[in-house]
Amino acid sequence: MFESLTAITVIALGKLGLCLALCLAERGFNVLGVDIDEQRVNQVNHGVAPWYEPGLAELLARYTTGSHLGGGSFRATTQHAQALTHGDCTIVLVPTPQESDGDFSTRYVESALAALAQSLTEKHLFILSSTVLPGTLDGVIIPLIERVSGLRLNEGFGVCYVPDFVALGNVINDFLRPDLVVIGESAAVYGDVVATIYQRLCLNQPAISRMSLISAELAKVSLNAYITMKISFANTLANLCECIPGADVDAITQAIGADRRISPHYLRGGTAFGGSCFPRDVSAFLRLAEVQGTQAELQRITTRLLMCAGCYKQDSLCRPMKLFCDQRRQTHRV
Ligand SMILES: NC(=O)c1ccc[n+]([C@@H]2O[C@H](COP(=O)([O-])OP(=O)(O)OC[C@H]3O[C@@H](n4cnc5c(N)ncnc54)[C@H](O)[C@@H]3O)[C@@H](O)[C@H]2O)c1
Repeated sequence: MFESLTAITVIALGKLGLCLALCLAERGFNVLGVDIDEQRVNQVNHGVAPWYEPGLAELLARYTTGSHLGGGSFRATTQHAQALTHGDCTIVLVPTPQESDGDFSTRYVESALAALAQSLTEKHLFILSSTVLPGTLDGVIIPLIERVSGLRLNEGFGVCYVPDFVALGNVINDFLRPDLVVIGESAAVYGDVVATIYQRLCLNQPAISRMSLISAELAKVSLNAYITMKISFANTLANLCECIPGADVDAITQAIGADRRISPHYLRGGTAFGGSCFPRDVSAFLRLAEVQGTQAELQRITTRLLMCAGCYKQDSLCRPMKLFCDQRRQTHRV
């Protein structure tokens, strides 16, 4: 098995899953998309993009009108069991929303993998790409698959964790030209398969880092915890510059961003970070540190800065300054 890996299933045709499925098709894979939402499945099978994402409508149209040039294909279904007959490998990209205690909810991941494990008879590779709290695969998901299928890890099935480092509004480009690919693997043989898939998917040559499942889970939340810290630093600097006549935060961030140790990305004074992932991942990182009994003061302060962002200094700003700030204001989202 896995020798001529051309058939891949993507579970969940959400903001990331649908784009990933179509990118894989574009790069020559025969892709089956599975979603529990029948209306969404019908929509995409008829070539209707459910939301705006640059390049999505065009890509979808190509695969539903048969006008694509590559050797790949794409179709969608609501039947999880079809994943196991479609091919040897399934990518799971269901949502993992934040719970009130700061943890990620794994209910969608559990329900998707339980549905798949029910029909598991032949060796299969499960690739989880949803963001999860570190420890979820070893502690929750693998025992669940073993229990439901009656098979054992690395004998009846393999598991890899490949987190996505993409930003909404640039999802397709980020999938095709990522800076990095992180592969967490239950055994090297499965990591080899995933590396082959991503080498074929990517139009560039990203750094591919292979590691244990827990390290990959940690890498994902660490990256977002670091970026939010960087954004908060730029905003703190912007605050300071607003108090000092003549100080220009953009001139400063542009200058210091040229230093390789810093880099210019996500280093502009503006509004706080937002979107669904940044706040959730930084608070998950913080909670994980607390549970492990270690200090994560930088993330505690970053979370506090997020809470007070938007109210600082604003009331005291004179109108011309407010206009200036509004022009400069930008929102960082992932
Ligand atoms: N959105 C981002 O910018 C971003 C960036 C990086 C990582 N992520 C992570 O990627 C994952 C997916 O995020 P998203 O924004 O694509 O989610 P989304 O909310 O857009 O996806 C929702 C889709 O999942 C489907 N779904 C739910 N349960 C299912 C099941 N059991 N089987 C099949 N389909 C199911 C729903 O019907 C819906 O179509 C999350 O873990 C998220 O944290 C998101």
